[in-house]
Amino acid sequence: MADKVIIFDTTLRDGEQCPGASMNFREKLEVARQLQRLNVDVIEAGFPVISDGDFDAVQKIATEIRGPIIAGLARCVPEDIDAAGAAVKPAGDRARIHVFLATSKIHRDFKLKKASEEIIRLTIESVKRAKAMVKDVEFSPEDASRTEPEFLAQVVEAAIEAGATTVNIPDTVGYAVPGQFGALISYLRANVKRIDEAIISVHCHNDLGMAVANSLAAVQAGARQIEGTVNGIGERAGNAAIEEIVMAVKTRSDYFNDFYTEINTREIVKSSRLVSRMSGLIVARSKAIVGENAFAHSSGIHQDGILKHRETYEIMDPRDVGWGETELPLTKHSGRHAMAKRLQHLGYQLSDEEVQQIFVRFKEIGDKKKFVYDDDLGALVDDSISVTQEAWLLDYLNVTSGTATIPTATVRLRRGEETLQDSSPGNGAVDAAMKAIDRILNQRGHLVEYHVSAVSSGKDALGEVNLKCDFGGGRLITGKGASTDVIEASARAYLNAVNRMLHQSSQHSPEKEVEFLEAAGV
Ligand code: KIV
Ligand code: ZN
Repeated sequence: MADKVIIFDTTLRDGEQCPGASMNFREKLEVARQLQRLNVDVIEAGFPVISDGDFDAVQKIATEIRGPIIAGLARCVPEDIDAAGAAVKPAGDRARIHVFLATSKIHRDFKLKKASEEIIRLTIESVKRAKAMVKDVEFSPEDASRTEPEFLAQVVEAAIEAGATTVNIPDTVGYAVPGQFGALISYLRANVKRIDEAIISVHCHNDLGMAVANSLAAVQAGARQIEGTVNGIGERAGNAAIEEIVMAVKTRSDYFNDFYTEINTREIVKSSRLVSRMSGLIVARSKAIVGENAFAHSSGIHQDGILKHRETYEIMDPRDVGWGETELPLTKHSGRHAMAKRLQHLGYQLSDEEVQQIFVRFKEIGDKKKFVYDDDLGALVDDSISVTQEAWLLDYLNVTSGTATIPTATVRLRRGEETLQDSSPGNGAVDAAMKAIDRILNQRGHLVEYHVSAVSSGKDALGEVNLKCDFGGGRLITGKGASTDVIEASARAYLNAVNRMLHQSSQHSPEKEVEFLEAAGV
């Protein structure tokens, strides 16, 4: 009998820790709904103690999402555990608290400044505290792969004795290699008393490009939960990409014949696109499974082979992961009802007000281009829900530029009843539009990254701009915007980054987060 491998998705927690990837409440909710359709087993919805915004998002996801277990992260600090317990409570029987504490010598000596005995005591106390709130408790010895195996075994044993139902072994800094990581799991299975009473999980980072390989090696050695993110987003080089793990297990079921996952693979591409839109992190064209080129065969020899017999060069059927499932495009003649139905079919759950906002832009776009494709609609939805209630909206934009004139932009912004307008010259039309926004809001943003891409095909394709800005202090904020006009798309993207920056400043900042973590001493 094959064993199920539990898929634990941490896109909304570790994924969101990726610089510039932070999502607002509404974006997180859309991602959680898509993860439910993808049929992941666990959604780690956030780190509730970090901010009111994180707490509210986890609580809302725990209230609304049905099916997956909902987990909230907590350090071994009473305040964290209580916040996580309260946030996941609405999930009832499907509520999980995930507590973590660093165990490696380098973390004990330099970060925590705590002796081994203290680590064991904190582990026991914290798991017990979490267990008093929920029956499902996961414990992670952070930096496990660099922890002395004997000490790691002691900590894991203490966690299980205190009531942990899942023990997660993180390769926090992506240091492990497959053979050694698999051997570490085997070592724990052989040396931890009552190890069979808990699920062994792994959580691998991709610093050496081995997160997926390490996760699979661990499963072969007996782990039965894998943690990862959609598109592999996450701290630094990211986390193990869920789509790669799932498709490796499925495609090589001849080799991995002792286990399976219950992921609805046809939802993979949709999940990838949604996460990319919501996080503003572009998927590389050559990314396995979900990159634009993942199934594109360009050489004549390969194309010929595919036409003769698909399996000559294709190891997976692209339809199995959801490629090629596009519907007939809408046009400017399509009504509000048709557009709303298509949005629903694409999986978006939008309020009437949001549908109306999107419909206004749909009509504008429909006037400018012949067909409005599903991806165009996705970009419009994204534009609409990435805007928070207190956001500034682009009311008017006029740009003059050319070979014999100094590019100048006039911008009018609106927020509720308030409108503000200003003009600025710039080093090009895009720069002028951004400077005009800066003048209006009396700020200065520095563009660090700028990408423009066509959302759909054809000369009249919607242009989508993804950018990253530094508004001071090195904190990177992403922004995205779409329009048939790339200057307008750029102004929208910049304004989106500005709105996110203003929203985040009112919620929490990474600087405050570091201060907060240091104060807690864990
Ligand atoms: O990478 C890591 O160690 C983590 C833990 C919180 C599980 O993300
Ligand atoms: Zn991590």
